[in-house]
Amino acid sequence: MKLLLSLALALSSMSAVAQDVQPIKDAGPYVPSPQSVVSDMLRYADVNADDFLIDLGSGDGRIVLTAAKVFGARGFGVEIKDDLVKKSNEAAKNEGLADRVKFLKQDLFKTDMSQATVITMYLLPDTVNLLKDKFLSELRPGTRIVSHDYPLTGWIPEKYVQMDLEDKVQISGVTTTLIYLYIVPAKVAGNWKAQMPPAMSKQAATLSLKQQLTRVTGSVRLDGKEFPMEDVKLRGDRLTFKLAGRRGEFSGQVKGKQIDGTVDSGGTKSPWSATLGG
Ligand SMILES: C[S@@+](CC[C@H](N)C(=O)[O-])C[C@H]1O[C@@H](n2cnc3c(N)ncnc32)[C@H](O)[C@@H]1O
Repeated sequence: MKLLLSLALALSSMSAVAQDVQPIKDAGPYVPSPQSVVSDMLRYADVNADDFLIDLGSGDGRIVLTAAKVFGARGFGVEIKDDLVKKSNEAAKNEGLADRVKFLKQDLFKTDMSQATVITMYLLPDTVNLLKDKFLSELRPGTRIVSHDYPLTGWIPEKYVQMDLEDKVQISGVTTTLIYLYIVPAKVAGNWKAQMPPAMSKQAATLSLKQQLTRVTGSVRLDGKEFPMEDVKLRGDRLTFKLAGRRGEFSGQVKGKQIDGTVDSGGTKSPWSATLGG
């Protein structure tokens, strides 16, 4: 028994060591974004003093440093190369920004991103897509994600900008530069028990929603009749839609398992609400 226990302990410590020595996935070589692209990325994401920005693979730190210096944001960068982490922390200190930003030697795939209101990245295309599930599970609805050059496939960007920059020729061989801005959507899929304005229905209604990233489809069951939803838009935690064949524009804020909003029927606004699974 004692022998078995020591054998089990030895095996478990061996597997812990094996996990520790797993190679870190290289998400891309060190190629700094041109400073003009950095400014555009931060501008398109509307970065401001209330933001907490995380740059995944922070290189020499320029995105986080610019976000703090020009836009007043706080945040951190994660980077696997020791010398770049050191250089970035020195720059933060020299520029008087060390109280607002820092740089960590850390694998971006293992980084807790839940504090971010803005994520930035300039990484290889396959890496960007490997991160999609992590973004959706860790980031709060409304968090902005800005990617230099490579898109998150299947996710409709909020903004997409293409330009030609001479600086990019030495980096990628072409002048083409792309910036993608995404907004993390709230999770809305499922059946919601809804209370509509009394003028619309006195009974509880059912909202049935299907979701694929920001694309939402569904219908509302009102007084035993099914109304397909039209013009459905989900931007962060803001859901808007209309009902086929009925007047009124619905808008609502998703707060976890609750939606609270108003129906605008030609100038008069009346409240509606819904509870997930209720
Ligand atoms: C293309 S550079 C971008 C640098 C900076 N974000 C910019 O836009 O100027 C990508 C950086 O990611 C770093 N990197 C690659 N794999 C990483 C990983 N698994 N964890 C953290 N950093 C990583 C590289 O060392 C490199 O500095």
